[in-house]
Amino acid sequence: MSHQTPRPLSALPAGPLAGHVRVPGDKSISHRALMFGAMATGRTRIKGLLEAEDVINTAKAVTALGATAVKTGETWEVVGRGVGGLAEPAAPLDFGNSGTGTRLMLGVIAGQPMTVCLTGDPSLSKRPMARVLKPLQQMGLEVVEEGRDRLPITVRGSARLVPMSYELPVPSAQVKSAILIAGLSAPGETTVIEKEPTRDHTERMLRHFGATVRVVDRPDGKRAVTVLGDAELAGTDITVPGDPSSAAFLVAAALIVPGSEVTIEGVLVNETRTGFYTTLREMGADIAFLNVREEGGEPIADIRVRASTLEGVTVPAQRAPSMIDEYPVLAAVAAMAPGTTRMEGLAELKAKESDRLAATAAGLVANGVDAVVEGDTLIVHGKGSVAGGGVVVTHMDHRIAMAFLTLGLVSKAPVTVDDTTFIATSFPEFKGLMEGLGARYTG
Ligand code: S3P
Repeated sequence: MSHQTPRPLSALPAGPLAGHVRVPGDKSISHRALMFGAMATGRTRIKGLLEAEDVINTAKAVTALGATAVKTGETWEVVGRGVGGLAEPAAPLDFGNSGTGTRLMLGVIAGQPMTVCLTGDPSLSKRPMARVLKPLQQMGLEVVEEGRDRLPITVRGSARLVPMSYELPVPSAQVKSAILIAGLSAPGETTVIEKEPTRDHTERMLRHFGATVRVVDRPDGKRAVTVLGDAELAGTDITVPGDPSSAAFLVAAALIVPGSEVTIEGVLVNETRTGFYTTLREMGADIAFLNVREEGGEPIADIRVRASTLEGVTVPAQRAPSMIDEYPVLAAVAAMAPGTTRMEGLAELKAKESDRLAATAAGLVANGVDAVVEGDTLIVHGKGSVAGGGVVVTHMDHRIAMAFLTLGLVSKAPVTVDDTTFIATSFPEFKGLMEGLGARYTG
């Protein structure tokens, strides 16, 4: 994909957006459903799986490891090999642009006595892997080229992993998940301690597959998540809710384009993922979670958004894990909200598909917005209007592209992004859905 010709696109000023829509399935849950299905015995049926490049790469990887993952009608069926029952792949596993696919799969491989090479595109090959390799090495995973921190990486799993207790040095659901997944194969209890709660889909879904998972909120404010090893997972049915990180672009667009009213049905509203929505409400947004219900062990709702008069706010660092993927689009909303929006504690944004802290600020400045990075804080001085007319460098990052294609709907001159190719990694329907609501783009 990285070798394709870039596909630029410009967002044009839009009239009011309106409609009832659904967004594709949650990316985090989709990766996990495929991997846990592959580690389970028997058949797992997945409805609503996200069919975007990142997740398709995970489907290919589990197939290369000896499971089967095929679509029959509207349902994906995975036939698993049991914990510890996967097979050594014949070729390197290519994860494309996906950090989640790579890091979670390292946890899967850790408990399997086999040698596997993992590769990815130039963006993924720049991202740090030591955060997950280090704890997995303590459990018994071997990294063939000791000390290597970037893809391509060759690792050797082990049938004799050692359980452990590990406090996360960075708030990362990927690292937490990789360790818990490895812990399924180790004897005894494996515990991950986190200072700030990160998304808990691994914990919820492992229970759904029959594993024993204990979550304790400790008096010191930290959360301890323990998985019982020598686990057996049993194939099950999964329904994947709509992705709140994809819905975020539609929500942002409806808020900033005057006169809009949009409802997005069936969106995941797990509180480890809804920091963006909390922040928008603090800014004055008219957002309602309607018809809140549960589906497959996760809370979902229909999200109704009406265009609103907004104001700048301070977003505390503790909230970052619950909205980590939404900062680029929040920054776009902040540009339209009079006053100063300070987004604190964003060090982790530098380790995403691009350095999102720098890329977001640069994209705003290129379009006449007063934005600056101070340490790990992004500061946007919103004026309630945006000049536009700039070209945004997306650095192979889907969310940078979508955030600025959202901002361009309200800028005076079109906002152009240099490449939309990578939108297909998470949200191939983005442009079509936005146009269906009334957005306008030109290539
Ligand atoms: C994810 C965790 C987050 C997030 C990513 C998906 C997951 O990454 O940014 O899009 O599915 O566990 P980190 O764990 O690196 O924060």
